[in-house]
Amino acid sequence: MSNAFRVLPGGRLTGRLRVPGDKSISHRAIMFGAIADGQTRVTGFLEGADAISTMDVFRALGVRIDGPVDGRVTVHGVGIDGLRGSAAPLDCGNAGTAMRLLMGLLAGQRFESTLVGDESLSRRPMRRVAEPLARMGARIETTDGCPPVRIRPAQALAAIHYDMPMASAQVKSAVLLAGLYADGETTVTEPAPTRDHTERMLTGFGVRVGREGSTVRLAGGQRLRATAIDVPADISSAAFFLVGASIAEGSDLLLEHVGMNPTRTGIIDILRLMGADIEPLNQREVGGEPVADLRVRSARLRGIAVPESLVPLAIDEFPAIFVAAACAEGRTVVSGAEELRVKESDRIAVMAEGLRALGVDATPTPDGMVIEGRGEGPAFHAGEVHSHADHRIAMSFTIAALRSDGPLLIRDTANVGTSFPGFPATAARVGVAISEADA
Ligand code: S3P
Repeated sequence: MSNAFRVLPGGRLTGRLRVPGDKSISHRAIMFGAIADGQTRVTGFLEGADAISTMDVFRALGVRIDGPVDGRVTVHGVGIDGLRGSAAPLDCGNAGTAMRLLMGLLAGQRFESTLVGDESLSRRPMRRVAEPLARMGARIETTDGCPPVRIRPAQALAAIHYDMPMASAQVKSAVLLAGLYADGETTVTEPAPTRDHTERMLTGFGVRVGREGSTVRLAGGQRLRATAIDVPADISSAAFFLVGASIAEGSDLLLEHVGMNPTRTGIIDILRLMGADIEPLNQREVGGEPVADLRVRSARLRGIAVPESLVPLAIDEFPAIFVAAACAEGRTVVSGAEELRVKESDRIAVMAEGLRALGVDATPTPDGMVIEGRGEGPAFHAGEVHSHADHRIAMSFTIAALRSDGPLLIRDTANVGTSFPGFPATAARVGVAISEADA
């Protein structure tokens, strides 16, 4: 696999495309299908390295999984108590979602497990999950707060009420999954709404999940019933093209079958506040998740203060939003986004470094960034940026070339395949002058 992208400046985005399946939903389809009774058939599955890691972990836990073939997967569920321990460590690769949700799921098992990950995942915080699980009676050891994580069989888990200190769907999901194995009713209160795919999908598997305001509740001891899951295209992958078509003059692009779950559409709200022209067409519901086709045409963007309430609803899209901000007229201020520092890379530091390398006036702050947008004309100078092995950073700078005054070289791009297999070919097809390189 190549480890760099070379992107020529300019161009516009036209035509139509369907980006790969939603990563959050693909992980959960495997996990919940594995502990359900019966066969779960998945279509539109993300065949990216992260979701494949989850698949391989469940195979190691004794679950038969057929596929993926053209996005189709069949999970032969083993039931809530049917997983088998694996003597070998379970490798989550680059996938934080896999590791954190697995911690919750494995906390209530009768066997011991060790979870490991790649270099980036091995630096990411796991105490945020280990701590509430320990309160439920789980026996979990991290390595100075990070992976590897060792999970030993616990006597019995007890339900808790957890007041989450940070807005994290992964933490919420881990506690709820452990709650399935706990005595009593587990409740989680979130400080701000976060993606609710766990709640929606568990409901689809026949589990009773309640919500009152910001609190989710679930009683232990429920079984999951296999179901069919149609995974929509990932709005987090569509985000690069929403920004790209917005910033590249003359663009008119249709993004098909995009997941429009209201806990994920912050990117559309933010771009619209900046003046973007995004039109949802053919809105429908597919397997408990809203979906639409999105028509996006270029627009003159203006800088804004991003409302903090939208931050958790667009948390994975900030690398792309920073690129949009650099092209907008005037200043954009992002705050309340300190979670960006603990993603696949420190996305505040890495984006600021890359933007500055391309001549953008970007100032990182502890919880966000201040960017002075260039307005009309090229917003980026020719140059090189390092993605620090972060897929979303690599794809964001690829899109920046649409408004650069010369070629961009983006290094360390191999991890793009974790969430968006085939990204270079897809981007090229709609108008990005990208080629793969070894650098
Ligand atoms: C995810 C939750 C978010 C997000 C990640 C996927 C999920 O992480 O950044 O890419 O599928 O639950 P946090 O829970 O850490 O905010």
